[in-house]
Amino acid sequence: MTASRRVAVLKGGRSFERSVSLRSGAQVQDALARLGHDVVAIDAGPEALAELLASDADAAFVALHGRYGEDGTVQGLLEAIEMPYTGSSPAACMRSTDKVLAKCLMREAGIPTPDFRALRETSIKELGAAAALGRIEAELGFPLVVKPAHGGSALGVKFAPASAQLPGSMVGAFSYDGTIVLERFVKGRDLAVSVLDADDAPAGAVALPVVEAVPREEEFYDYESRYEIGMTTFVCPAELAPETTARAQELALKVYGLLGCHGVARIDLLLEQDTDELWVLEANVVPGMTETSLLPQAADAAGIPFDELTERILASAFSR
Ligand SMILES: Nc1ncnc2c1ncn2[C@@H]1O[C@H](COP(=O)(O)OP(=O)(O)O)[C@@H](O)[C@H]1O
Ligand SMILES: [Mg+2]
Repeated sequence: MTASRRVAVLKGGRSFERSVSLRSGAQVQDALARLGHDVVAIDAGPEALAELLASDADAAFVALHGRYGEDGTVQGLLEAIEMPYTGSSPAACMRSTDKVLAKCLMREAGIPTPDFRALRETSIKELGAAAALGRIEAELGFPLVVKPAHGGSALGVKFAPASAQLPGSMVGAFSYDGTIVLERFVKGRDLAVSVLDADDAPAGAVALPVVEAVPREEEFYDYESRYEIGMTTFVCPAELAPETTARAQELALKVYGLLGCHGVARIDLLLEQDTDELWVLEANVVPGMTETSLLPQAADAAGIPFDELTERILASAFSR
C-alpha cells in the first residue's frame, strides 16, 4: 500500500489538444481518488500557478498535452515552486517535443528516423530558404510529409503528393508552428510503444506491448480525420513477428534513454512495408490517458490496470 497524497491534476490548457487533455485528466482524477489520494483538479489557465501554490499539493500530475504541458514550460514552473511532478524534466520535454531536435539527436545516436529537413518560416523570409526546396524535394521524394515541429495528435500533418501541393501543405503546417519538418514518406504500419519506469528492470524502464493503429480507410489527404473517433482501430498487442516486436521495444527504450525521459513516454514508429525496417517518428512525454488512449491499452495488455498505471506514473514524481 502506498502513501496517500494530495495531488494536483493539471489538465486542459489552451493547446490544440485541450479536449483530449480534459479527458485524460478526468480519468486520472477518478483513478487517483479510487487509490485513496486527495485530488485537486486544475484547468491550466492564467490562475494555474496561483492555484497550484494554494493547493498545498504534495505533487502535480501533469495531464496537459501539447504546448506548455509537453514542451517543458509547466515542468520548469513546477521546479521553480519546488513541487514534485510526474514525468519528464524540462530538458527531456524540450528534446522530445521539438521534432527537429529529437530527430537530430536520434540521427546522431544511430537510431533510425525518416530522412528530413527542417524549415523555419523566418528563414524563408530572411534567408530565401525557398530556393532550397527543389533540392529537398528531389532528396526526399514524393509524397512528402509536412508537419509542424511541435505537433501532436497528427494536427497539421499533411502529405504533399507532388510539388504543386507542397506550398499549400507548408502554409498549413506553418499555421501551427514557426518551424516545420519535411520528412520522407514511409509507407507502412503505424506502431506505438509505451515505456514505463520500473525499479526492477535492468534499464530502469520497461517497454509495454506494441500497439498498432490501423486506419479504417486510406484517407490520404485528410490525414487528421484518421485520429477522430472511429476512423482508427487499435490492435494490442500488435500482430507482428516476435523479432519485430522485440526490435520496436528495444528502439523505444533506446529513444527513452537518449532523450532522458522519466516516468513514462510513448514512442511512435513506422514499420516500413517494403523493407521491414522500423523508423522512429517521435516521443510523446505526456501520453494520452483517456479510455481509448494507447498507453492505457498497452498497460492493460501487460496486465497493468489503469489505476496501477496511474499510481506508477504518480510515483515518478517522487523518484527524480
Ligand atoms: N514520414 C512519415 N511517413 C508516413 N507517415 C507519417 C510520417 N510521419 C508521420 N506520419 C503519420 O502521421 C502520424 C503523426 O505523425 P507524428 O510524427 O507522430 O506527429 P504527431 O503525432 O506529433 O502529430 C503518424 O502516426 C503517422 O501515421
Ligand atoms: Mg505521433
